[in-house]
Amino acid sequence: MSSAQKTFYIETFGCQMNFHDSEKVVGTLISEGYAQVQREEDADLIVYNTCSIRDKAEQKVFHRLADFKKLHKEGKRFAVLGCVAQQEGEKIFARAPYVSLVAGSASYRNLPAMLIQIEAGADRVTGLDDRQTDQTFETEFTARTNPHRGYITIIEGCDKFCAYCVVPYTRGKERSRTAQSVLDEARRMANAGYTDIQLLGQNVNSYHDPAGKKTFAELLTAVGELPGIRRVRFTTSHPRDFTKDIIDAIDSVPTLCDHVHLPVQSGSSRVLESMFRDYSREQYLERIAWMKAARNREISITTDVIVGFPGETEAEFRETLSLLDEVGYDGVFSFKYSPRPNTPALQYADSIPDAEKSRRLQVLQEHQRELQRSSCRRHLGQIVEVMVEGKNPARGQITGRTSQNKTLNFVVNGRPEPRIGEYVRVQVTQTFPNSLLGEMTV
Ligand code: SAH
Ligand code: SF4
Ligand code: F3S
Repeated sequence: MSSAQKTFYIETFGCQMNFHDSEKVVGTLISEGYAQVQREEDADLIVYNTCSIRDKAEQKVFHRLADFKKLHKEGKRFAVLGCVAQQEGEKIFARAPYVSLVAGSASYRNLPAMLIQIEAGADRVTGLDDRQTDQTFETEFTARTNPHRGYITIIEGCDKFCAYCVVPYTRGKERSRTAQSVLDEARRMANAGYTDIQLLGQNVNSYHDPAGKKTFAELLTAVGELPGIRRVRFTTSHPRDFTKDIIDAIDSVPTLCDHVHLPVQSGSSRVLESMFRDYSREQYLERIAWMKAARNREISITTDVIVGFPGETEAEFRETLSLLDEVGYDGVFSFKYSPRPNTPALQYADSIPDAEKSRRLQVLQEHQRELQRSSCRRHLGQIVEVMVEGKNPARGQITGRTSQNKTLNFVVNGRPEPRIGEYVRVQVTQTFPNSLLGEMTV
């Protein structure tokens, strides 16, 4: 590579796990002597950390590669990391011959060695063979982008093999970090000034301490009890593995946030079965009942839904709508079913036409919006603690996040402006389906 200081540009697609992986990749690149730049044009090495959860997500990286192809002639190198890299493997070299490195997340601990190969001029370097590993990617060089709120991966991979999902194939076998190493990292973060920690995994509820010391609920509690930590969140939960002791922990440890994201995918037990989700509507609702029974907390609940899964009838779709009524979610992420490579659902015909999927999605989103419009009114007049996240001087507002993971925009009301990362109390004066408005108070 040409310049004295090697430079890289990185763009990340996909979920929080991918964003946090990128923070570790950035840390690794910096420790290998690279400097990060903000434009593809300024970089020696252009890195895309990719997502293949739905076809649209997958196509993004190929659009980017096409857009910036011309830069290859200037001697720049390209690396494709993440879920599309693992899924497509060496086929990426055929489609985009100017790519030099293709590596899935299970191989990131070998990145320094792979970088040395690229620097030596190799142009077909791969990290694709580690999906059966028991090892996790732990590095002391994590370059976290936010100085107050940070992620910690506690479990990698997934063994659930839901019928529609690429993750078990792209991220490989499920493997947990020891509770000790998670706690050491959380303690280092607390010492560095972090107050808000989010524990990550595709299925955090199947966390299994390899040293046998702590269950997931015990790990949550231990992180929440570290001096300096004020908020602990975790994502994602799986209804099959979600146990009541998690709610008991939230109910008794004040730093554990009042929020659970519990993806349901469908309100129909028949569809859930063909998705291989391994729980019924009734079992899911039992977990919701635990949350609603929490004595000391009002736990906000969010979910993910897929519409138009193969064979989903209108009546089954209606069951999902009625589940939304029954649960009263604070937020729903909804998606049209997208057939994915390697997944068992490919054996079913993708039977619902795209226009019908779009209609169901729209009906569901409008339905949920109306539910949220009325349910959010319960916050009116409440005084809640927010962590300050940003400022909008044009509107004279500050943006904060509540323990329930809601965005609360507020005015300071003549009080000194709080700093980003500070915790302040705000009275809610107006409510909207997706955010709250308020005034800072004492
Ligand atoms: N591990 C989490 C989430 C994985 S991906 C879980 O178990 O729920 C995030 C969301 O993307 C999923 O919850 C699902 O709603 C959606 N999703 C996954 N595969 C999909 C597909 N093939 N088509 C449409 N949506 C999909
Ligand atoms: Fe995918 Fe299911 Fe694993 Fe979630 S639990 S990552 S939806 S296979
Ligand atoms: Fe996408 Fe991979 Fe995450 S497919 S959602 S980046 S696990």
